[in-house]
Amino acid sequence: MKHFRLVITGNPGVGKHTSAKIIAEKLDAEIIDINKVAIGNNAIAKKTSKGLDVDTKKLSRLLAKALAAKKDLIIVGHLAPYVLKPAGVDMVAVLRRSPYELEKTFEKRKYTAEKSRENMASEILGVSLYDSLKTFGKRKVAEFDTTGKTPEQTAGEIISTLQKKSPKKTGIDWLAMVSEKGDMQKFFEY
Ligand SMILES: Nc1ncnc2c1ncn2[C@@H]1O[C@H](COP(=O)(O)OP(=O)(O)OP(=O)(O)O)[C@@H](O)[C@H]1O
Ligand SMILES: [Mg+2]
Repeated sequence: MKHFRLVITGNPGVGKHTSAKIIAEKLDAEIIDINKVAIGNNAIAKKTSKGLDVDTKKLSRLLAKALAAKKDLIIVGHLAPYVLKPAGVDMVAVLRRSPYELEKTFEKRKYTAEKSRENMASEILGVSLYDSLKTFGKRKVAEFDTTGKTPEQTAGEIISTLQKKSPKKTGIDWLAMVSEKGDMQKFFEY
């Protein structure tokens, strides 16, 4: 049987690594953590105040090699749309999470106000989804809302879609929700 390549991406704090671990255990697959590959192989161009500035060309080459392994693979990271090619990828799970819940996660992580705002804005605008669609095409991309779900539920939904027991869905719109609640200022005013 052919080995699967499942990509799990999405903005910071949406639940990628937590879900990936559960899926890897359930399906006996191996996790390739894009950030770890970058750090472990000196594919970091420089450290900036906002995080790591990655050498995307080098990282793409490293990942292409890793993806040649004859194993079921789960490739995890928010950089996925910028460093992976669509060929050979079976499905791209873009995890989404309400900006109101993300705010709590970022507080726990002690992100600065600026970093938290930037990441919430990026989630509200759906940057990860847009970039994933651009790189992988709409046939391979599915969104999963982790808001109010347990990691086990999310893992189950992703597995079901990977195994084609559930359809690939997209269409999450935080912008409309935030606007309806009258919170545009809260998230977008500087
Ligand atoms: N349904 C869910 N699926 C996955 N994680 C969840 C879910 N609900 C809550 N969480 C929690 O969300 C938090 C963030 O998860 P995690 O660290 O996996 O995010 P991430 O997307 O890997 O973040 P980063 O990009 O910064 O590595 C964790 O505390 C996790 O337990
Ligand atoms: Mg993580």
